[in-house]
Amino acid sequence: MLVNHGQFMVIQAGAPQPPIIQTKPQGVHQMELGADIGRQPYDITGIRRNFRMIENNIEHRRSAAEDPLRMDFLGLAFNSPLVLLSGCVGFGHEYPRIAGFSHTEVGAVCLKGTTLRARLGNPPHRVYETPMGMLNAIGLQNPGARAVVERILPGLDFSATRWIANIAGATVKEYAEVCRVFDDSPIDAIEINISCPNVKEGGMIFGNSPAMSARVVEACRAATRKPLITKLSPNQADIAANARRCIEAGSDGLAVINTLSGMAIDIEHRRPVIGHGQGGLSGPAIKPVALLKVHQVYAVARRHGIPIIGQGGVADWHDAVEFLLAGATAVGIGTALFRDPLVCRKINAGIRDYLSRHGLTRACELTGALNKEV
Ligand SMILES: Cc1cc2nc3c(=O)[nH]c(=O)nc-3n(C[C@H](O)[C@H](O)[C@H](O)COP(=O)(O)O)c2cc1C
Repeated sequence: MLVNHGQFMVIQAGAPQPPIIQTKPQGVHQMELGADIGRQPYDITGIRRNFRMIENNIEHRRSAAEDPLRMDFLGLAFNSPLVLLSGCVGFGHEYPRIAGFSHTEVGAVCLKGTTLRARLGNPPHRVYETPMGMLNAIGLQNPGARAVVERILPGLDFSATRWIANIAGATVKEYAEVCRVFDDSPIDAIEINISCPNVKEGGMIFGNSPAMSARVVEACRAATRKPLITKLSPNQADIAANARRCIEAGSDGLAVINTLSGMAIDIEHRRPVIGHGQGGLSGPAIKPVALLKVHQVYAVARRHGIPIIGQGGVADWHDAVEFLLAGATAVGIGTALFRDPLVCRKINAGIRDYLSRHGLTRACELTGALNKEV
């Protein structure tokens, strides 16, 4: 079992009866451990929550008309700029059981990375908490694109929020095929994950080459008319150059950034902690890097009117406003959900308050609104 540094609630995937590792419960919630609500037929998130939270801080929802957080993102009606990130919310089934959670508080939810055929993912350990962050190497565990479309999508509430598929492949052809499977489904948009650091083939290998990234985007563009978002890797020399190639190849939006490659070592056994050897670092530790990458990509994207889902270490409303100012139109929430699954409500409230204090009426007025260029 992994050592816990005290920030996140992490349950090791695949353990027969995973105990809950949880320190410092959040003040506004009452935790009920062992409520046995985590099991779903396609419960393959790799991170399993086996607790229920009784929410006692209910905020009254405003009417749609007056809510400054509502926005259009690639023609999709978002309830809020907040997007739940791929890999941090499985396939949308478990966390809504947390009392007090509502999908109406987020603009969209990105499903776990999906390949053409089912994948079992990497050997354990798959997650490891680091100072102010988390290393993961899940290895794209998923039931395959057709199973997602046929057995998972029908169970999602499309009236509450927008749903985005996150697709991956070992070859350009596989990306296109997965894209085609989702094209023939009710999914609202497709995010191309060319930045996964945790698989041996495809993923980041494509994402770190602008030419290969463009080939993947082109193939996906030919396979769907749904909005396409390309998720860029921070592990490359010139992320802005890559963004430009992806836009030219037909990407409608960009997601910036995926995790940074990293490593942790078990010094007693003299081996990497993560079964895959290395993993992707997420959480507050990567926020300054992510902010700069968003700002660099924005310099290219704004010329083409391409919106960005800024992400990487967002933990509170202050972080979210920083990402908007750096150039993001929407803001992703990932690792922070392991610490507080109800964090989006607080972030929404903080953004509303910030807007009102600054005399602004819409969250989208903040996009790229820095007073000084970098
Ligand atoms: C456990 C875990 C699994 C992830 N799986 C995926 C994935 O399947 N596809 C993907 O594009 N990104 C995946 N990511 C990356 C996140 O979507 C996000 O881009 C990254 O963690 C940075 O945001 P954060 O610091 O708020 O978590 C994963 C991240 C974590 C922590």
